[in-house]
Amino acid sequence: MNVKTDLKAEVAASEALPWWKGATIYQIYPRSFMDANGDGIGDLPGITRRLPHIANLGVDAIWVSPFFKSPMKDFGYDVSDYRAVDPIFGNLDDFDALVARAHELGLKVLIDQVYSHTSDEHNWFNESRSSRDNPKADWYVWADAKPDGSPPSNWQSVFGGPAWTWDARRGQYYLHNFLASQPQLNLHNKDAQDAVLGVMRFWLERGVDGFRIDALNFAMHDPQLRDNPPAPENGKPRTRPFDFQLKQYNQSHSDIPAFIERIRSLTDEFDGIFTVAEVGGDDAVREMRLFTDGETHLNSAYSFNFLYADKLRPELVCASLAEWPDEERLGWPSWAFENHDAPRALSRWCTPEERDDFARLKTLLLMCLRGNAIIYYGEELGLTQVDIPFEQLQDPEAIANWPLTLSRDGARTPMPWNASACAGFGSTDPWLPVGEDNRARTVEAQEADKNSLLHFTREAIALRKAHPALHHGKVAECRAEGDLLVIVREAGAQRIECRFNLGSAPIACSDCQGEVLMAINGASHRELPAHAAIITEISA
Ligand code: NOJ
Repeated sequence: MNVKTDLKAEVAASEALPWWKGATIYQIYPRSFMDANGDGIGDLPGITRRLPHIANLGVDAIWVSPFFKSPMKDFGYDVSDYRAVDPIFGNLDDFDALVARAHELGLKVLIDQVYSHTSDEHNWFNESRSSRDNPKADWYVWADAKPDGSPPSNWQSVFGGPAWTWDARRGQYYLHNFLASQPQLNLHNKDAQDAVLGVMRFWLERGVDGFRIDALNFAMHDPQLRDNPPAPENGKPRTRPFDFQLKQYNQSHSDIPAFIERIRSLTDEFDGIFTVAEVGGDDAVREMRLFTDGETHLNSAYSFNFLYADKLRPELVCASLAEWPDEERLGWPSWAFENHDAPRALSRWCTPEERDDFARLKTLLLMCLRGNAIIYYGEELGLTQVDIPFEQLQDPEAIANWPLTLSRDGARTPMPWNASACAGFGSTDPWLPVGEDNRARTVEAQEADKNSLLHFTREAIALRKAHPALHHGKVAECRAEGDLLVIVREAGAQRIECRFNLGSAPIACSDCQGEVLMAINGASHRELPAHAAIITEISA
């Protein structure tokens, strides 16, 4: 076999792949990225101004978390108008300017879509709650009380407390899987489906390149409103009533894939659209597979494998990769180590002394996983979780469950751009504190230091892009031996071995082979010191 020709063919094949296959995606939490108008809250013009920072990383796309009109009870995941930009963030012209600039810089633009629920201030809900026979009466999930006045079922909300709230106007309960101010849309209703698909078309026509679809497994409930059974003990702490149940009936209805088929028919009308679903819960893998099945559903899905893990263990990585073998009809996974809901990974996975090395290790590992890699803003700087005192908490989930639930605020702190008083984030005190540790990790300081994590992140992204096996190849092998993790990726004739020492004791290397593509934290063919990694090409 002519290996070089084969490799060329492989590179050509990778150029023919859809842009999103193997993509690296940068998630922006708009409140926290850059405040251009000096109100302490990030905004769309701020994002646009800082797009070059993202483009210089070499990522393929940005995903912008919700910026739609919202009373901000759940910071934008409670939408009151899907087709408008919230004035805190700017206006539609600002959004168009953001898209135009991103495209100029070669970045695709993904936006969040929240279809499982709206805000209680959405006009649809106002109309729906106004009577039992208005045209939108059935757009939300309404139900009569039980004969004793109690809620229609035992369902519990993710954020704590019953998932039903009484509404005096209709004299009925309505369902909400999160806050009471986030009523559940009834997507069994065809008109409600048409309405959210109309929203999707609106943004597609505005030029977006795809969507991250929020909490998609909550999209439909059991119309018979059967009680959820109790969950067997699994050793995990139960901090909310939600944790005591198997989520058999409040979510995950078998009609969700048919709704997804409608989404796919719509996105297929446009070129190169990428869709990725957020799917949490105990049955996430089965549901992600259903939601991404074949060519008629979404392109990708991600769950919470790494987002809430206390430790990064080799077995977790291999088990996660094994969920997505390279098989026909099976979807393409996406992975994130951090996001706006989970504590920053460096605060979960290593000690403060280990952070510099571990940050390189985890960045490189993310680039070696088969699937799309999602980087959360500030991850390229090594930001850590900021401890927000109760008096400064903003996150409704943390406030409701304090002190048992870790605040999501600590991972939503302002991006530190430079050493000025407001860290270059804006011109006034930001909505959350920057955090002392994170003040020392600014973009400006890391730009000036060739050995910084920021520079390393660019190299790791470039390495993945330059090697088809890492970018979109299959996983030929994944081995977990103590702290050692070995992943072998393969595309055509290219075979790349990725070895990581996830522990703090050195690991001798008896079978390390191949040309070194990258070695970090002192790794060599002979040894992997603490948190070291070596990527080698073992054929070609
Ligand atoms: C998932 C989002 O990521 C989270 O931030 C939000 O609170 C819930 N969905 C409810 O929309």
